[in-house]
Amino acid sequence: MAAASVGWVTEPAFLAAVSSSYDTVADTFAERFPPSRLGPLGHAMLRAFAEVVLAESNGPVADVGCGPGGLTAELAGHGLDVSGVDLSPRMVELARAAHPELTFTVGSMTALDLPTGGLGGVVAHFSTHHTPPEHLPAVFAEFRRVLAPGGHLLLGTHLGADEYLRPTEAYGGHPVSYEAYLLPGERIAALIEGAGLTITARLDEPNPKGGGRSFAYFFARN
Ligand SMILES: C[S@@+](CC[C@H](N)C(=O)[O-])C[C@H]1O[C@@H](n2cnc3c(N)ncnc32)[C@H](O)[C@@H]1O
Repeated sequence: MAAASVGWVTEPAFLAAVSSSYDTVADTFAERFPPSRLGPLGHAMLRAFAEVVLAESNGPVADVGCGPGGLTAELAGHGLDVSGVDLSPRMVELARAAHPELTFTVGSMTALDLPTGGLGGVVAHFSTHHTPPEHLPAVFAEFRRVLAPGGHLLLGTHLGADEYLRPTEAYGGHPVSYEAYLLPGERIAALIEGAGLTITARLDEPNPKGGGRSFAYFFARN
């Protein structure tokens, strides 16, 4: 993967495509995909995660790839001390406007601006699938780095049969240049465990809107 130089930092080129694409679709995404889009199982995963963190690690939580922040707010409503991080400045702007009581920062899951071992939890809710698979070990290593011993990860993601998607438009016709990688659950489980985290639970859910592809939620502990 080619690298681009951005300011002081050399970052993988795919990040620029993800950031600009989500800037383009952010307003439509916020309108069309509010937290109410989740089915009862999706909401239950967030609630269960909050209960586990409060009971076992009780530290701050980062919602990584938080988008417009609706689910960050839902997690806060469950009692978590949670902040959001997203690569798209427009997403962060919308999140701050909708939830001024919470903290949202522009940043990447490939290099989180967070101290080592400081978090009780990391949530990545349908945000890792734009990362090329060869970069995912570094992302999961980053999740582990920021988690305190005993801290928890909740990963929600699309599943697929190693599918590579290159859509040219999304969310009602907005042009996008990001790529998406839909991996089998076993690959994702291996990535989580390869980073040294222990999977404690997994739920597979058929997409509530149909279409064949399913969702998965992985709970893991550091
Ligand atoms: C499909 S949206 C999901 C938003 C939110 N988690 C939700 O479920 O409503 C994916 C989000 O992940 C963010 N994202 C993708 N790759 C990222 C990265 N490397 N670092 C931070 N955010 C990223 C995108 O900018 C986008 O806002």
